[in-house]
Amino acid sequence: MTNQVTLTQFIIEQQRGLPEASGTFTLLLNNIVTACKQISHRVNCGALIGVLGSAESENVQGEVQKKLDIITNDIMVRALDWSGSLGGMASEEINDPIQIPKQYPKGKYLVLFDPLDGSSNIDINLTVGTIFSILRCREGVEPEPEDFLRKGSEQVCAGFVLYGPSTMLVLTTGNGVNGFTLDQDVGEFILTHCNMKIPEDASEFAINMSNQRFWEAPIKRYVDECVAGSDGPRERDFNMRWVASLVAEVYRILNRGGVFMYPFDLRNPAKPGKLRLLYEANPMAFIIEQAGGACSTGRERVLDVKPTSIHQRVPLILGSKNEVERIVGYHRDMDGAA
Ligand code: F6P
Ligand code: MN
Repeated sequence: MTNQVTLTQFIIEQQRGLPEASGTFTLLLNNIVTACKQISHRVNCGALIGVLGSAESENVQGEVQKKLDIITNDIMVRALDWSGSLGGMASEEINDPIQIPKQYPKGKYLVLFDPLDGSSNIDINLTVGTIFSILRCREGVEPEPEDFLRKGSEQVCAGFVLYGPSTMLVLTTGNGVNGFTLDQDVGEFILTHCNMKIPEDASEFAINMSNQRFWEAPIKRYVDECVAGSDGPRERDFNMRWVASLVAEVYRILNRGGVFMYPFDLRNPAKPGKLRLLYEANPMAFIIEQAGGACSTGRERVLDVKPTSIHQRVPLILGSKNEVERIVGYHRDMDGAA
């Protein structure tokens, strides 16, 4: 029999090295994982159990919700609220922070999550995921909304689960990035991708080209140079991918490098980008940096952005270090010349 390491074993062995670890974090992660296994099952059954399609409601972002956006949000909340490990939660789908019901004790962590990332893909049977971010909080007290507004650099853990051909969990606790594949027969996540590292250079980019006319000059310059390929200043050909599912793009980049951009958009200055700082950009930035990549708004390291509201959006440029630094350099050139 091969010596398989389960996620539970991996986490317990990691926590053993930490003198202050009490088991609360392990319990919390275990509950997140249970929720994600339940979500994986629902996503997998799809039309068989009637979960596809629109819920005909809008979320706080003004986006039409899918039935699965609501179902997966409920699964996360119900798996997490009772455990005594959380002071509170915040979800991309819910207006205000979610309080822990009075009958349960409050704990020392906050969880922020996007229960179903890439949900526009759900009805066409493409990859979606769940993204989560864990912060510490003051124990035993009701968190104030401001308690959630913390820089990404304060995260103690971030991860995402990918519901694709395999269900996979990608996780960091600030000590590298590891990938686990769900063994559906046994119901356990098994360590399959140890210490994931992003190549520093890459020749693949991901961007929604239909927004091209709204981009700023540095993004236009970078993409033009990629498209010019071996005839242009980069002197090599580039490839392009766009899955329209952040979890899938980040997973690809973790495995073979590349850069993902959802940049600042001149369409609506009140919405400086599409992706949400607390539920998407911060957890992905923590993972990407831990895998040796870089993550920026174009003008600031994402993990250094001080949040001002829980549903704030930010421009997001992440991936292979040298490519991201090049794009940041193009922003610096433009801002310096202004
Ligand atoms: O959650 C937002 C999201 O679905 C991301 O997963 C994805 O990267 C992006 O939006 C896709 O955006 P667009 O609809 O512009 O292709
Ligand atoms: Mn999302």
